[in-house]
Amino acid sequence: MFKNKVKNIPQHIGIIMDGNGRWASLQGLPRNMGHKEGINAVDRTIDALIKLGVSVVSFFAFSTENWKRSEQEITGIFNLVRDFLHSKRNNFKERGVKITTMGELEPFPEDLKKELELIKEDTKNNKKLTVNLALNYGGRADIVRAVNKLINEGAKEVTEKEILENLYSSDLPEPDFIIRTSGEKRISNFMLYQMAYSELYFPKVLWPNFNERHLRKALKEYAKRNRRFGGIK
Ligand code: IPE
Ligand code: IPE
Ligand code: MG
Repeated sequence: MFKNKVKNIPQHIGIIMDGNGRWASLQGLPRNMGHKEGINAVDRTIDALIKLGVSVVSFFAFSTENWKRSEQEITGIFNLVRDFLHSKRNNFKERGVKITTMGELEPFPEDLKKELELIKEDTKNNKKLTVNLALNYGGRADIVRAVNKLINEGAKEVTEKEILENLYSSDLPEPDFIIRTSGEKRISNFMLYQMAYSELYFPKVLWPNFNERHLRKALKEYAKRNRRFGGIK
């Protein structure tokens, strides 16, 4: 189902987009200008991923912990995501980009929820690149939700496979490669269950500066990794 064009390219890349605030501070700009540039980096990265033949990308856009930020910053992020999706809907539809989400969308403003609904519906049959947006997403919440779903269906015990099949990302392969920009070396509650055997990569570049060159460098690094999954090679 998920075919790659180039050998040794990860099928699914997870991206923890970090450094928007620091990028803005460095330019003497308000934090939301960093998020604005961050959206442009998402746009560029989607183009590059299509070109390189990656099948799935999961972007960490808003975590369950990001509600701790100011209302102004949070609203700014929601508006940027809404406007971006609105402006790209036809383009994505035509270029084979399928938009999916993971995370609890219920607390979001109605206009953002509506935009998400529209773009998911419009792009649902697309096959070239799946762009999975992690919105109000937390890895722990994802696992707890999966287990509760199973309990509500009558389970007394659960298996690893059942949990995996009930995560938000159940239709997607597990991420092969996780990139976190800005030099922070932590996971911050992203896809905890799914990344058991993901290769991790922490480039220093701040997310708003991320471009095709950084992506190619990351993929070069990935290609050199020896994935053993606990076995011997
Ligand atoms: C990542 O950039 C974007 C979100 C978490 C929404 P940050 O806003 O965390 O940027 P820094 O870490 O403050 O530089
Ligand atoms: C992780 O970045 C969340 C997203 C990229 C959406 P944060 O900036 O929120 O993570 P911490 O607080 O530095 O761990
Ligand atoms: Mg950050």
